[in-house]
Amino acid sequence: MATTGNKSINAKLVLLGDVGSGKSSLVLRFVKGQFVEFQESTIGAAFFSQTLAVNDATVKFEIWDTAGQERYHSLAPMYYRGAAAAIVVYDITNQVSFDRAKKWVIELQSQGNSNMVVALAGNKADLLDSRKVATEATEVYARDNGLLFMETSAKTATNVNDIFHEIAKKLPRVQPQTNPSGMVLMDRSTERAASASCCS
Ligand code: GTP
Ligand code: MG
Repeated sequence: MATTGNKSINAKLVLLGDVGSGKSSLVLRFVKGQFVEFQESTIGAAFFSQTLAVNDATVKFEIWDTAGQERYHSLAPMYYRGAAAAIVVYDITNQVSFDRAKKWVIELQSQGNSNMVVALAGNKADLLDSRKVATEATEVYARDNGLLFMETSAKTATNVNDIFHEIAKKLPRVQPQTNPSGMVLMDRSTERAASASCCS
């Protein structure tokens, strides 16, 4: 297949969700193909990157894995601001984590980018015997809210690559020209103009 014309896209992606829902485990599975039974609770946030090829583009995800502990909640806007995508994670064996996920969705809908691709991951799908959150009702909820929805397992790797892949496919192919917060971008023409006016 010809590769000419392939686009290269950088996409900031943030993971949000209740403590212990499996955000770090999903990232570890996606980025390193690993799983650990005793993953330590995240402090603040952790950064990862991973590149993925989709049909017509190479997407480089810049991933912010946030901390689910309530005391870090006020930091979250720093990570979802300017993000092209978010994965809101809950644990299918924990109803409270699903209620928390819905709150994150509301926060993203009111405070996030209007064109952000938001995915909902019902994680720990391997623990079927302990399921507390039904799939069907969540599907309806996700459809009503325009969310991509998958049940995932960081442990068995079920749907982990898939959810990132589906997000990559939904990203806008023409990236908006807005500057990510906290970053000053200068393109070459501005730079030339600046130096021209300065020294000639
Ligand atoms: P915070 O960083 O505290 O917000 O938590 P987190 O959302 O990053 O959760 P983390 O990835 O640390 O996972 C919490 C616990 O759940 C760990 O002991 C993981 O091993 C376990 N876990 C994560 N994903 C899965 C899964 O898909 N299946 C099973 N069975 N356990 C999982
Ligand atoms: Mg974590």
